[in-house]
Amino acid sequence: MDVNLARIVFNKMNTLEDLDKNKLPQHIAIIMDGNGRWAKQRGKLRIFGHENGVDAVHQTVESCAKLQIPFLTLYAFSTENWKRPKNEVDTLMRLLVNVLKKELKTLNKNNIRLKTIGKTDTLPKKVHKELTEVMSKTENNSGMILTLALSYGSREEIKTAVQEIAVKVKNNIISPENIDETVINTHLYAHFLPDVDLLIRTSGECRISNFLLWQIAYAELYFIDVFWPDFRENHLVQAILSYQNRERRFGKTSEQLN
Ligand code: FPP
Repeated sequence: MDVNLARIVFNKMNTLEDLDKNKLPQHIAIIMDGNGRWAKQRGKLRIFGHENGVDAVHQTVESCAKLQIPFLTLYAFSTENWKRPKNEVDTLMRLLVNVLKKELKTLNKNNIRLKTIGKTDTLPKKVHKELTEVMSKTENNSGMILTLALSYGSREEIKTAVQEIAVKVKNNIISPENIDETVINTHLYAHFLPDVDLLIRTSGECRISNFLLWQIAYAELYFIDVFWPDFRENHLVQAILSYQNRERRFGKTSEQLN
């Protein structure tokens, strides 16, 4: 049995020290799912789950920074999440403002730069203002780039890119035969991010939910049956160990890789 796999199976409380530092994913993306069900299990309102999800965000960000993961992207609010009851949306937005205010210190302490992807101009003014402030106060940090996907939908991202490119074609700025993957990528919200290496989804659901469809073409997918508020460093390490135990062939054969 591979040594990494043995560690996952036999040691449930993995720590950062168990990881091969030469084989870390450069871009981890996380679908933080299960807040509502976590709260329901405890007979509480859904927002109680979101509030407790903040701790998991804090710990995961710190663990990734400690590991010097260059890019961490969190799916915090999708374009579809606007359809939730107004009360839940409003409370989530308030929570976001509070978290941003409170976590600025943590971001600077860990040399983290905050960025966003999504239609952030559709967010309430207060959220937009706080985001702008925290992004500007962390822009000189040179460590991990933490990206929050907010009012984000991957189809919307691709549609917007196609529209922008179409306008450039119409105005003779680009010719159709010069539209390649790089051109498309530069028009995406996430143009500053590399492809995702490891995509984690909590809560046991095994789907992508319109997240980073372009960028996950060759990502390793990891689904874990733990609700987001319970997600801890141990789980993150298990996900990375699983990643380190896989052979990424990018369409080639094993023999070619060796
Ligand atoms: C999905 O769980 C979670 C969300 C839509 C919101 C995520 C928000 C947080 C973790 C809190 C704050 C975030 C940041 C970045 C500061 P769900 O509500 O869909 O859960 P369910 O599937 O059990 O209903």
